[in-house]
Amino acid sequence: MTKAGLFLTFEGIDGSGKSSQARMLADHLRNLGHDVVLTREPGGSAGAEEIRSLVLEGDPDRWSAETEILLFTAARRDHLERTIRPALAEGKVVICDRFADSTRMYQGLSRGDLRGLVDQLHKLMIGREPDLTILIDMDPETGLSRAKGRQGTEERFEDFGLDLQQQMRAGFLALADEFSDRFRVIDGNRDMDSVAQDVTDIVLKALR
Ligand code: TYD
Repeated sequence: MTKAGLFLTFEGIDGSGKSSQARMLADHLRNLGHDVVLTREPGGSAGAEEIRSLVLEGDPDRWSAETEILLFTAARRDHLERTIRPALAEGKVVICDRFADSTRMYQGLSRGDLRGLVDQLHKLMIGREPDLTILIDMDPETGLSRAKGRQGTEERFEDFGLDLQQQMRAGFLALADEFSDRFRVIDGNRDMDSVAQDVTDIVLKALR
């Protein structure tokens, strides 16, 4: 009998703590004996990691909004072909830090209304949604101060400031309503362990 893999994504605004939660979940599931692939977007395969530095470093005006959608989608396609699909075919649990919902939000909302374009390209080139998406909902101001506290060269989206954070938070909550069959929303304005407990409960239920 072949076991089906589970494709799980984490979404949320910058500084929502989703990357830490994804890591903690991966550790927890591994301890329970699951075969887990922890990955992220943009990135998650050699080619997609190269595209990651193209989109997240350097001048924010380097790419037009449309070119940016193409680059994120190109990265996702490579990630899907090389990392996600093979792991799911082997029955693994794939935990991905951000996926297409991030493109729907960041590229779909931040520089005009391009959601239609994002969705069209997604249908054409990706055509796969996660089995389960965990949205870590977070107060935009707290998220921003956390994100700004991190050092690094990848500042691309954090640079847009509080307005964008607020817009992204509302957008993610609306997206959770739109795709309510696969989204679960968790209150991220609590200590990490309480958030992690909720994440574990939801995922273990999905795995049963
Ligand atoms: P990420 O590494 O998840 O950063 P963080 O942990 O701070 O959330 O994502 C990097 C940035 O890339 C983030 O600002 C959101 C942005 N992004 C997009 O704009 N579109 C996308 O499709 C994805 C996957 C990420």
